[in-house]
Amino acid sequence: MKRIRLLLQIILFSASSIFAGNQLIGKNVAVFYPPHYNPKPHQPSFALLQEPKAIGKISSEWKNTPSFYAKDGKSVAAIGFAKGTSLYGTGEVTGSLLRNGKTVKLWNTDNFKYMADGGKRLYQSHPWVLGVNADGTAFGVIADNTWKQQIDLSDSIRFISEGPAFRVIIIQRNSPQEVVKELASLIGKMQMPPLWALGYQQCRFSYVPDTRIKSIADTFRLKKLPCDVIWMDIDYMERFKIFTFDKTKIPDPKGVNDYLHAKGFHSVWMIDPGVKIEKDYPVYESGTAGNHWVQTADGKEFHGSVWPGPCVFPDYTRPETRSWWGGLYKDYMATGVDGVWNDMNEPSVFDGPDGTMPENNHHRGGGDLQADVHQRYHNVYGMLMVKASREGILAANPEKRPFILSRSGYLGSNRYAATWTGDNCSSEEHMQWSIPMTLNLGLSGQPFNGPDMGGFGLNATGELFGQWVAFGAFFPFVRGHATNDVNNKEPWAFGEEIENVSRTALNRRYQLLPYYYTLFHESSVNGLPVMRPLFFADAKDSTLRKEDQAFLVGDALLVIPRWAKNPALPQGIWRSFNLENNGAPTDKYQAELKLKGGSILPVGKVIQNTTEYSTDSLTLYVSLDAQGKAVGTLYEDAGDGFGYKKGEYLQTKFSAIQKGDNITLTLNSIEGKLKTKVRQIQLILISDTDTKTSKWIKSSEHQTLNVKL
Ligand code: GLC
Repeated sequence: MKRIRLLLQIILFSASSIFAGNQLIGKNVAVFYPPHYNPKPHQPSFALLQEPKAIGKISSEWKNTPSFYAKDGKSVAAIGFAKGTSLYGTGEVTGSLLRNGKTVKLWNTDNFKYMADGGKRLYQSHPWVLGVNADGTAFGVIADNTWKQQIDLSDSIRFISEGPAFRVIIIQRNSPQEVVKELASLIGKMQMPPLWALGYQQCRFSYVPDTRIKSIADTFRLKKLPCDVIWMDIDYMERFKIFTFDKTKIPDPKGVNDYLHAKGFHSVWMIDPGVKIEKDYPVYESGTAGNHWVQTADGKEFHGSVWPGPCVFPDYTRPETRSWWGGLYKDYMATGVDGVWNDMNEPSVFDGPDGTMPENNHHRGGGDLQADVHQRYHNVYGMLMVKASREGILAANPEKRPFILSRSGYLGSNRYAATWTGDNCSSEEHMQWSIPMTLNLGLSGQPFNGPDMGGFGLNATGELFGQWVAFGAFFPFVRGHATNDVNNKEPWAFGEEIENVSRTALNRRYQLLPYYYTLFHESSVNGLPVMRPLFFADAKDSTLRKEDQAFLVGDALLVIPRWAKNPALPQGIWRSFNLENNGAPTDKYQAELKLKGGSILPVGKVIQNTTEYSTDSLTLYVSLDAQGKAVGTLYEDAGDGFGYKKGEYLQTKFSAIQKGDNITLTLNSIEGKLKTKVRQIQLILISDTDTKTSKWIKSSEHQTLNVKL
């Protein structure tokens, strides 16, 4: 009896020490629990890679401590901040980069043209705020909570949730970059995408029949407009039934994929979660046999309408359902599909309450996930879907890196899929918002994202498309798209002038691929976004905090859209340059580019798609610092597959020092097992007054070259 009591005491003690105490879980990372915290409705965490482990006590000096309380039946966590603090993050949000004073609702919503709720809730939920203090030090707050909630940044940082009280994780660091890196180590990083996914991608709702797909592809090649991917939207399916092809429009899907591959394209095809209720439709029949559908509160199959009409919806909280779903990709991928587009996964339900399924629908869970109401799992429905898709696609093609684009997401979805900012439209406002939207998603742990370039809804003018492509070509994800009842928005659709503008912009993207691929790799290692806000250049400089017209790509490249009005630019050396024969920009649309003093930018040749990608000859753009020095890096691997995880990659460091009229350039491979190669190198020195170009010279690794300018 005594022993049982003792055992009980130990159990009770350890339970309270786990949940009652706020604890340090990493260097300057702490978890805070509300009183009477109940882990059951929250754990395991969807955002965190693993359950945090206590490593010590929180020091009494800790700033940004949350207070927890209940108000109007809602659970609140409030975190104060000092005057002069700038707030960012909060995921996919319309409007400015700076989030002070803003409110956002975290309830994933199919929001055509961002009209519903004044655009205050979109397709994704990131319960995350980044704070940059006046002195440039920074902090970040994760609300570890999937339930319906709001983030209110009007005076303090408040997470106001309709679900049970939740815990909060706070990161403190010396810079915003360090906070974002720590966020990534808590929630996980983007996996290396295939190289082709960094190229230009052309989409429309929808390119059918197959002859149209082929002619779109042919037009890119004919017009020498670089492009890597053609996208197939829902009309390829037979009556919108997922995992089917309409035989009248696409009689030979493998033939279409083969055709695209032969011309250096990859293909991405759409798969939505809603499964048409139709007898003898194999996906419906096998899903029903496996009991895979989300249920209503009283345990019946939930039915709701999407594109195909009445549908059932996989309950991705069930491990059996995830593996059944993943298994559906096997035959599908065998037709030569390269990438998958998971759309409508908020989930969007046309005839459901608020455009989705009822909040009291029932998810059965399994494994370590509890059975619970839809309200708890709504915001992670899409994340669970893409997790299952990724696993299935990987099982089907174990040698290839999966590429999945997801419309819905939650903090941590970056582990499984890239994303885009949903159904924007062809307007100046949405064009301008696309910059802060991409930046804030990047600051919220999702580096691989971008807008529908040119705008999805409404007709686009050539003027708007020209303006958009000229800076949009620098986004991490670059895809043009258009809905089904608007004008054509391919780069050639607006006449010769805009076609030429598009070509120049896309050429620039392809020339910069060595730099982009290096940045994607960096992001997959440390979680820093590819596209970065200008305040990353100097977090102490308060004038940069609001800047959301100009942006950085990595640390070295600054992009200023032509339409930007008085952008705030960082101090220090930033030299203007362009990638076209060292002359002036070729047209009035192209973004102004600046290279940071102290940087070397690895640039490749203009190519038409990534199957032509090569780093055998590189132009190194050099912008020296005040000491006459510059450095840069290049990451290379096979561009697909997983050899890089076994060391089959190469990271090369370039260093340049000016000595009189010469530049001494040193190439050093610093990491990786790939064989170093002999390259042709050309150096372009950008100075304040002019640009000097060297001859092409032969190099090998660990070699110091004297380059005459
Ligand atoms: C949704 C998507 C859009 C797609 C359309 C048809 O609106 O956001 O990109 O074209 O559905 O599938």
